[in-house]
Amino acid sequence: MKDKSRLIRTQTDRSPHREHNTPVYLTSSFIFDSAEQMRDTFSNDLDGQIYSRYSNPNLDEFIEKMCLLEEKPAGFATASGMAAVYLGLMSFLKAGDHVLASCALFGSTHQILDQILPRFGITTTYLDPLETGQWDNAVREETKLLIVETPSNPGLKIVDLEICNTFCKKHGILFIVDNCFATPLLQKPARYGAHLIIHSATKYIDGQGRVLGGIIVGDEKEMEEVVFFARHTGPVLSPFHAWMLSKSLETLPIRMKAHCQNALELAKMLDNHEKISTVNYPFLENFPQYELAKKQMKMGGGIVTFELIGGTDKVYRFINELQLLSITSNLGDTKSIVTHPATTTHSKMEPVDRLRAGISDQLIRISVGLEDIDDIREDILQALQKL
Ligand SMILES: Cc1ncc(COP(=O)(O)O)c(C=O)c1O
Repeated sequence: MKDKSRLIRTQTDRSPHREHNTPVYLTSSFIFDSAEQMRDTFSNDLDGQIYSRYSNPNLDEFIEKMCLLEEKPAGFATASGMAAVYLGLMSFLKAGDHVLASCALFGSTHQILDQILPRFGITTTYLDPLETGQWDNAVREETKLLIVETPSNPGLKIVDLEICNTFCKKHGILFIVDNCFATPLLQKPARYGAHLIIHSATKYIDGQGRVLGGIIVGDEKEMEEVVFFARHTGPVLSPFHAWMLSKSLETLPIRMKAHCQNALELAKMLDNHEKISTVNYPFLENFPQYELAKKQMKMGGGIVTFELIGGTDKVYRFINELQLLSITSNLGDTKSIVTHPATTTHSKMEPVDRLRAGISDQLIRISVGLEDIDDIREDILQALQKL
């Protein structure tokens, strides 16, 4: 069966009621026929559900589909994308360890690395995705892992996954990829040796702005550490949200295709607009990392960013003139969204670090939704015209 069909047809075992669609298993725990069966399930001699902090049929179904897409054998679903990022880091780190991270990461990931991990004696060195030749100089004996995000939120920096793979192998460190912007439909980090792949399922995986969720998938050995850490610290996704996310995956292929088509069309339309200095979209031919994006991604994704000519006051005026686009921080929704990252999602970063991550004060992020492209285009053009 093709992946597209398996996303629709993968389903947890039917109950005696013979329901067509998967039911929601809203239960905290699962029962046993005997004390012996319970003992053997706890000791892993028998397969079976125990407790929803550990696993649940709805979570298993969602994880199975994500593992299929990401070409990894095991996963753990979390209550948010950040819980998955935190798990990916903390399952492996201890006091004295050192982390390498792309300088272009989501704002909260920066906060974990800059504010939270140092409390436990863990330090980070940021690497510039455009200066991979310098990376070797940052490696120390205590370096444990490399974490990258590609394309990055919101700077759309593309990190060369093949270079990351060679680098991590050379230095014997763990390779973690946040694949949120691309989704596994556009980019498969497992093919570039990533040990662990992380998603904010809140974005394209739900795709309808309804639930928070996350997932981490990886190889058996690494996932054993992650599952141990997760089961005992409790960041698990709720069964209801897992049910929603699993249903959403049924339509991910058609939604991603439509997001990418709309985004490319919008990027082309904004390119060369007199009130805009730069348009960024990975599959726009003049995008600085176009060749690399083409090499490791199937389509360009659903995010377009651009820089307005003028100051923050102009940026705010543009945002406030929009009639259709929603002013909100989410992305990957059916509804088109506008965000000003420098004063919202990435406002806690130092200005110099923001610039390094490709986030100027003039940068506007558009999450291109699934409305008719004519309506999205008209709304943006009328707002630009009023400046
Ligand atoms: C690349 C990336 N990683 C992680 C997250 C965090 O996800 P969540 O909001 O589901 O915790 C986000 C959120 O925007 C993101 O864009």
